[in-house]
Amino acid sequence: MDKFVITGGNPLKGEIRIGGAKNAAVAIIPAVILAGDVCRLENLPNISDVSVLAKILQELGATVTRISKSTLEIDPRPINTYIARHELVKNMRASYYLYGALLGRFNKARVPMPGGCFFGIRPIDLHLKGFEALGATTKIVENGMVSLDAEKLVGNHIYLDIVSVGATINIMLAAVRAEGVTVIENAAREPHIVDLANFLNSMGADIMGAGTGVIKIRGVKDLHGTTYSIIPDQIEAGTYMAAAAATGGDVMITNVTPKHLESITARLRQMGVTIEEFDDRLRVTRTEPLKACNIKTMPHPGFPTDMQPQAAALLAVAKGISIVTEGVWDNRFQYCDELRKMGASVSVDGKIAVFQGVDKLMGAPVRATDLRAGAAMIIAALMADGVTEIEQIFHIERGYEDIVEKLRGAGAQIRRVSDEPTRGANLMSS
Ligand code: EPZ
Repeated sequence: MDKFVITGGNPLKGEIRIGGAKNAAVAIIPAVILAGDVCRLENLPNISDVSVLAKILQELGATVTRISKSTLEIDPRPINTYIARHELVKNMRASYYLYGALLGRFNKARVPMPGGCFFGIRPIDLHLKGFEALGATTKIVENGMVSLDAEKLVGNHIYLDIVSVGATINIMLAAVRAEGVTVIENAAREPHIVDLANFLNSMGADIMGAGTGVIKIRGVKDLHGTTYSIIPDQIEAGTYMAAAAATGGDVMITNVTPKHLESITARLRQMGVTIEEFDDRLRVTRTEPLKACNIKTMPHPGFPTDMQPQAAALLAVAKGISIVTEGVWDNRFQYCDELRKMGASVSVDGKIAVFQGVDKLMGAPVRATDLRAGAAMIIAALMADGVTEIEQIFHIERGYEDIVEKLRGAGAQIRRVSDEPTRGANLMSS
């Protein structure tokens, strides 16, 4: 079992460069299926979610050429099936964007139900409601495949009673080539929604209002190829901001969009962290003890749920009582059991966790229960006394490119210990 071994106590110093946004990349790669020509995607993060999705498109028939570590050229024209059977699809949550992309291209799609997640069920009822509103029939067929069929897709007015990133994205993918106008009300407003809309518009789509709660999509007949650079990753940036704060360091975090980080910056400042903003970078320092504060996660522009575990790791050592309310997912506090192994004092009741700040965390053997929980364990380990071993690091490497190299470059004592020959081979090469 591969693991990270971290010796805490080193303040992070120097510069950390942020990569492309995972949650934009996992929407934009399937969106290429809708293009009528080659698409060149730049600033992609070098993570397994990207290489797995690229492999899935290859299995569908697309020609995928890796130009560099962060650039792919994808020609979707040879794709000749709307059935995504490949084993990889079942294991990857974000493969559910294949529904909207294949439906949008072929008026049909057959894709396995998405894998579960480690913090509660991940329903897709709003996705299916959106497809039905556009004229598709949806059913679950043999061995958990979702089957979508439409004579033709016709624009409609769709109200999402829960703000859903995935449903907003999937409806956009299905609607861009539908007949007429689609309006999505109560749409998600995350930066990666805007990035997908900008990508689709660069292919000739006609989407307005992305980033607001109302998105209007005027269907177009065809979409051409494009060259597009993915936005920087808001959550990767927030994670390293928290790591710099945790260790009392002084880190310049580069290749960021400060506007995307406003809610994270505000909370960290409330905890006593100093953050200087520049055009495309932030300087994060902390000299005072961390202060307790309350956090409630909300859809964008609220404090992002994907930063909840990382912020909680800081609150575990912040002076006083902090209340963390998870406003998006049913059960996203499993990592608290792991923090307790390091000496944290936290009690969890449903969607609320109450932290009583302790002076210090102690190194211990812990595990990553999901992607962001794993990031929280790294942050805790970086500031703990002694050595921490983190298992199940595949969760972390799914979404954080070169995390060991980036942290070592800033002075962290972290190494990756593999019990087997390195398995990080690029899926593209196999
Ligand atoms: C996306 O998940 C992200 N994943 C998640 O990030 C993120 O936590 C989430 O958005 C919220 O920002 C990707 O972008 C690949 P939702 P998604 O649909 O789209 C309920 C990470 O760490 N809901 O916005 O699956 C749902 O149960 C990951 O990068 C329905 O009830 O999230 C949840 O309570 C973890 N029915 C709420 O809506 C539906 O049909 C928000 O979910 C869909 C969602």
